[in-house]
Amino acid sequence: KSGPLVDQWGRNATDLRISLTDKCNLRCQYCMPAEGLDWLPNNRLLTAEEIVRLARIGIEELGVEEIRFTGGEPLLRKELPDILRDIHHAHPEIPLSITTNGMGLEKHADKLKAAGLKRINVSLDSICPETFAELTRRDRLSDVLKGVDYAASIGLNPVKINAVLMPGINDGEAADLLEWAVTKGYQLRFIEQMPIDADNRWTREGTITAAEIREKLSEKFVLHQEPGPRGSAPAALWDVYPLGTQEFDPAKALGKVGIIASVTEPFCSTCTRTRLTADGKVRSCLFSQTETDLMEILRSDATDQEVAVRWREAMWEKPAAHGANNAGFETQEFVQPSRSMSAIGG
Ligand code: GTP
Ligand code: 5AD
Ligand code: SF4
Repeated sequence: KSGPLVDQWGRNATDLRISLTDKCNLRCQYCMPAEGLDWLPNNRLLTAEEIVRLARIGIEELGVEEIRFTGGEPLLRKELPDILRDIHHAHPEIPLSITTNGMGLEKHADKLKAAGLKRINVSLDSICPETFAELTRRDRLSDVLKGVDYAASIGLNPVKINAVLMPGINDGEAADLLEWAVTKGYQLRFIEQMPIDADNRWTREGTITAAEIREKLSEKFVLHQEPGPRGSAPAALWDVYPLGTQEFDPAKALGKVGIIASVTEPFCSTCTRTRLTADGKVRSCLFSQTETDLMEILRSDATDQEVAVRWREAMWEKPAAHGANNAGFETQEFVQPSRSMSAIGG
């Protein structure tokens, strides 16, 4: 018998992230090597029908309450509007979102919205064309900005912007990025770089920490955090005020900024996520050392209940925490997962 996706540490995964492809049209330095990766062959990707079925099993058998599509770059999957439409049609109560790099979004946004997409998160690490080109190895900032503005204009809100800071590349631009985001009304979140890059270049010393990010933002803003419970969202939210502010009236804030301190202030104990890779494997955690294949059983005529039981067993084994901030990190106690972010979907 199935039931909610609980693990042995008492967490309940209600937030499903499905990677639609491992391919991407950018080459962010913290994610992929310049030459790309060995992409999965098409016959090893879940089909659109299989994705819709797994989403339905998640919702109907396992208590999934929201679904986010990721990649690689999810807009590269031509069937994305069909997938959204089929899930939305069967379960209009379930919020559907994507995490995208924004390339081509201007062209696709209307049909995605019509198909049931509710909101978008866009990865954007710099609004300076030269820095963007250096970091992503593609000179495509204007495409991304057009996509973000267009998506916001048709109501795919709230638009959230994800930024990873890399030392010597874009770390001097944190406050500029925030200025742009608050002016536009987008919610910017800075993400600490995690040890999940394809070419194993991550180091703890090279990670710009949440504390350093707040310090950089204080060049142009005053940040203030409302007291209260944090919840299960990865981002800790701060109200943003003009320099010199001493009294904090949230009604007078310029906006909010999120800081996702995955490394220095991990939030594993409140994690509500379950992930499916583009080739149909359950990953209970970004940093799992094991995966559970659902594609194989889908293709062997398993019933929905059999698939659900397998998925639930996989989640029971979810690790308590990733350990990337442990003192033992440098001494190899932490093992970087063999798949990188682009093959898991962030
Ligand atoms: P919403 O807050 O619902 O908009 O989405 P999100 O922040 O969960 O999704 P998004 O795809 O924008 O993820 C932003 C980043 O948060 C990811 O790239 C990761 O860096 C981080 N993140 C999301 N989920 C996890 C997680 O389970 N563990 C860790 N360590 N980091 C995560
Ligand atoms: N560390 C932290 N965030 C990363 N992302 C990609 N690679 C990393 C990494 N090594 C982010 C992208 C995207 C999100 C899904 O994951 O910027 O916004
Ligand atoms: Fe592509 Fe996202 Fe990786 Fe950048 S971080 S290369 S946009 S998958």
